[in-house]
Amino acid sequence: MFSCNDDPTLLFLSERFHPSARHSRLQLARPLKNVPSHRSVTSVLCIVLLTLVASAFIDRATAADKSSKRRVRLGDPSLTAGIPGTGPLTGAQLSKWINNPANHVPLDFKLPLGLAAGKGDVQGVKSNPLTRAKIELGRQLFFDKRLSSDNTISCASCHQPGHGYAAATRFGVGVDGQTGDVNSPVAYNRILSSRQFWDGRAASLEDQAVGPIAAPIEMGNTHEQAVATVKANDGYKKQFDAIYPNEGVTIDNIGKSIATFERTLVTGPSPFDFAEALKPYANYDAADFEEMKSDDPKEFARYTRLKAAAAANPMSESARRGRDLFFSDRANCSACHVGANLTDEGFHNIGIGMDASIPKMGRFTVTKDPKDKGAFKTPTVRNVASSAPYMHDGSLATLEDVVEHYAIGGTPNPWLSKDIVKLNLSPQDKADLVAFMKACSGPLPRVNSERLPQ
Ligand code: HEC
Ligand code: HEC
Repeated sequence: MFSCNDDPTLLFLSERFHPSARHSRLQLARPLKNVPSHRSVTSVLCIVLLTLVASAFIDRATAADKSSKRRVRLGDPSLTAGIPGTGPLTGAQLSKWINNPANHVPLDFKLPLGLAAGKGDVQGVKSNPLTRAKIELGRQLFFDKRLSSDNTISCASCHQPGHGYAAATRFGVGVDGQTGDVNSPVAYNRILSSRQFWDGRAASLEDQAVGPIAAPIEMGNTHEQAVATVKANDGYKKQFDAIYPNEGVTIDNIGKSIATFERTLVTGPSPFDFAEALKPYANYDAADFEEMKSDDPKEFARYTRLKAAAAANPMSESARRGRDLFFSDRANCSACHVGANLTDEGFHNIGIGMDASIPKMGRFTVTKDPKDKGAFKTPTVRNVASSAPYMHDGSLATLEDVVEHYAIGGTPNPWLSKDIVKLNLSPQDKADLVAFMKACSGPLPRVNSERLPQ
């Protein structure tokens, strides 16, 4: 089991994700709810109107949803903590689990506070819906070394829950101690990301998940052999047959299951998120809060919970200055590290590894577009403090080193992004940026790494 924060208050501090397009009007109506509503008559009227429109949709939607959907918050440990019990999963335990219809219901989920701002960017769940049974199967496969050629390596060997779902080594270490030449990126918050790998060569998380199994220097197996191994295991076979009727164990279904598990690995609210969520109330005085208390007790309760959570997870003064700097034109980090997951999901040459004798070409190898030379995918800054070393080549050991790289304007090369320029940062500015990035860390879900089919 890995550490997490099961603080029940966080349950409320999340937002619902509406997978069907029909619900999108609700999303439009929603932000208004968080706006100080009692201040102007116009906004009250607007809200009444929108609520009427929205409730018509809610009624229709919930009628349809009630039968088929279950609401859950991603990060909820009940999704990832494994089938209750200890030791290897027995056939009887798996039968009971797989025969429970509730485990096959597509989940209607919310994202945690912070990440929830990206609910419009959720990827992959329409074609591959989340169910408890599929998440649990993906969890088992993620931690199962039997998927590798010599039973020594699982996905978790290089994406370790205790190391921010990355690895402490500069390069990933696969079967027979072989190493590649790129750093293991984090495997969380993938639900907001489509193209995978540093160069984005996998179009989806499903495509990505089957890659390492057959990569000679990673799990060193073949897809045929991995499928045969999984098929020969009664516990796995039972689950695949129930989750994927008429298909059973295939390499694609292995990929779908692992991707589903990965989509539940989300970062919970960080000190940064609590501070941001309180911003709309910054100019409220005592009278405003009294008014809110009587006019909108629900909003007042939410505010009270937020305030308590922010006090328990404070941002230092340095982190607050770092936040402003990060999003300022002066440091310009948010030219690329932007949005709910603090990444634009784009590809940029920031001058990493460009002084190597044969520099890696990154995105160019996929697109063949000269402007993509040396461009790599922008990684998330969420929980980045846990996943050193940094960059596609693992060349920077600390966040201080990362900031220094940007301060000097990266390594000059013909394809350097126009957004990478020498920055005029004082030692305090640099410390502030690091403090801010550390304040972007929130709890990861509790995950059981041990309970696998016998
Ligand atoms: C030997 C170490 C190793 C193993 C084992 C491994 N990975 Fe990775 N993983 C890496 C490296 C290194 C990369 C980056 C490769 C690249 O971009 O070319 C990566 C990339 C990824 C990414 C892309 C993240 C992003 O931001 O684009 C995901 C997701 C991922 N791995 C999940 C998995 C899963 C699932 C498994 C098991 C089926 C697995 N990995 C097995 C080392 C490993
Ligand atoms: C032009 C876009 C761009 C700008 C501006 C930018 N970054 Fe990045 N950032 C990236 C890309 C792309 C990578 C990965 C590059 C690589 O590995 O070659 C990255 C990597 C990082 C990493 C390492 C993450 C990891 O998991 O390895 C951190 C930390 C980071 N940036 C912080 C910052 C900070 C702080 C700033 C502002 C001073 C900043 N970035 C400005 C695009 C950008």
